[in-house]
Amino acid sequence: MTRRWTPLLWLIPIGLVVLVAAVLVAQWMRTLPDIQSFIVDYPGETEIPPGTPVGFPWWLQWQHALNAFFLLLIVRTGWQIGSGKRPPSFWTRRNDGVIRTKNPPKRHSIHVWFHLVLDALWVFNGVLYWVLLFVSGQWLRLVPMSWDVVPHALSAFIQYLSLDWPVHNGWIHYNGLQLLMYGFTVFVAAPLALFTGLRLSTIWPRALRWVPEKPTRTLHVWVMLYFIGFTILHVGLIFATGALRNLNHMYGGRDDESWIGLVVFAGSLVVMIVGWVIARPAVLTRLAALSGTIRR
Ligand code: HEM
Ligand code: HEM
Repeated sequence: MTRRWTPLLWLIPIGLVVLVAAVLVAQWMRTLPDIQSFIVDYPGETEIPPGTPVGFPWWLQWQHALNAFFLLLIVRTGWQIGSGKRPPSFWTRRNDGVIRTKNPPKRHSIHVWFHLVLDALWVFNGVLYWVLLFVSGQWLRLVPMSWDVVPHALSAFIQYLSLDWPVHNGWIHYNGLQLLMYGFTVFVAAPLALFTGLRLSTIWPRALRWVPEKPTRTLHVWVMLYFIGFTILHVGLIFATGALRNLNHMYGGRDDESWIGLVVFAGSLVVMIVGWVIARPAVLTRLAALSGTIRR
């Protein structure tokens, strides 16, 4: 653990205390007649346009699982970069391959090299997901179409927090809170990770050097914290609100209570663990040596 990041660990106990207090407040709020009639008026789900696709196509399932796989290793390498410890090796691109530049390539730690390789794969997966969303019409499930998504999301939020979940069926459509959270993750947080990351990289153009590096780095770390926080809440709610059915949606492409989705999800976890174990410095250094020179 690094001294620079140790203060961030305080977020865990602080988060837990705030959560318990918020649950108590939400439970009290639900006893108030005004809140009860608000929830009747706005149960949590907005109208969806006719013709919106139903269910989860196979490409979406694959891309969602790949996204989790890449993010796990991206967060790990980001953490290693931020740790300030001396990296096990350094990589300098050989300037004679497909990519050739006028200026001599700069030296990168092996962690930065792997971070960037994973980022490229993650961004490719993400751009393909965007394209397929819009080509298939699946975006209609993800982008709120009217402003009443705000009161619906607020209502769903109070219901979740009071531990008395909104009844809804994610197979047909998401509730307001899901729309806002998923929409923010896909259309705001992910591009923000990319643009702040590019500013920190050596390919950032000289003419745009006036974008300050230090605040950008801080923002890049906050985007990581957002992704971690989102994932904890998201996976927590997936398990709390009907694990088998939810997992069948995203990992089985079916809307029933069989065990298939859970088994496929467990398989994806095994792949993530294997990826984590294989990505040792010795293996990474050998892979990096294919495209550059290595210094210890
Ligand atoms: C999407 C494309 C991304 C690019 C191009 C990118 C690029 C970079 C670069 C160039 C650095 C600085 C390396 C150095 O100090 O030399 C960095 C650091 C880092 N990245 Fe990324 N990154 C991306 C996505 C992400 C994502 C999605 C996360 C987490 C969810 C993340 C987490 C981090 C962290 C924690 C650091 C260390 C910051 C520090 O404390 O100095 N990055 N990234
Ligand atoms: C690895 C553990 C994860 C599990 C078990 C999981 C599970 C699920 C499930 C079941 C759904 C469908 C929800 C429903 O039917 O109501 C879903 C949707 C979604 N998840 Fe995850 N998820 C995981 C990780 C992540 C991560 C790391 C991210 C991004 C940071 C993410 C982003 C999303 C998004 C954006 C959607 C909506 C996708 C769409 O419909 O286009 N998930 N997830």
